Amino acid sequence: MNQKPSSPVVDRRTFLKGLGTSAVAVASVQVGAMADEINKAAGPGGASPQGPGAVPVTLTINGEKKDFQLEPRVTLLDALRNYGPLTGTKEVCDRGTCGACSVLIDGKLTYSCMKLAIDTQGREITTIEGLAKDGQLTPVQQAFIECDALMCGFCTPGLVMATTALLAENPKPTVDEIKRACSGNLCRCGTYPHIIKAALKASDQSVTETTTVINYGNVA
Ligand code: FES
Ligand code: FES
Repeated sequence: MNQKPSSPVVDRRTFLKGLGTSAVAVASVQVGAMADEINKAAGPGGASPQGPGAVPVTLTINGEKKDFQLEPRVTLLDALRNYGPLTGTKEVCDRGTCGACSVLIDGKLTYSCMKLAIDTQGREITTIEGLAKDGQLTPVQQAFIECDALMCGFCTPGLVMATTALLAENPKPTVDEIKRACSGNLCRCGTYPHIIKAALKASDQSVTETTTVINYGNVA
């Protein structure tokens, strides 16, 4: 004759429920411990953790202060394009490899997809929209037009910002210096020779049809 087991039977549902409850309990303890660590690191009167919901963020863009409500995870690129709205700054890779999103922060060339908007408060942010004044293009912008330094134009704002940053530091760059300064900006259309000529022209250096900017070596 079959005898019933004397100990209580744990069925699959009860087992999984129990497992779920313990996992939540462990996770809660871990999150609590992490929050304690962050608060300890901030110290008394230190910065308190922000978010995850939207918080007030004030950015200085092209000389104007703008107030936003942004989640702390929002990148500067996202803030500019989707909340600005300043769509001249382009989003291509969104992971710091192409340079299409380049802006100036306190005059330094920066990939805006690699910066959190909240961390750029109190800094001077310049986008492509902030270069021309009273409808007057900058010498770099003008040179890009005159040297036909664009095809689809998607990389162009980033390259104009890169060239602008270079000339602010080095008003008469050599071809090699231009190449190095623009090496973080990819142009899939391959207009590099025209971009280099534009940078030379914007820095008042002679550029002619026959100016050599790319040495192809002994290509058969
Ligand atoms: S979109 Fe930022 S580097 Fe490509
Ligand atoms: S002009 Fe098309 S990617 Fe540069």
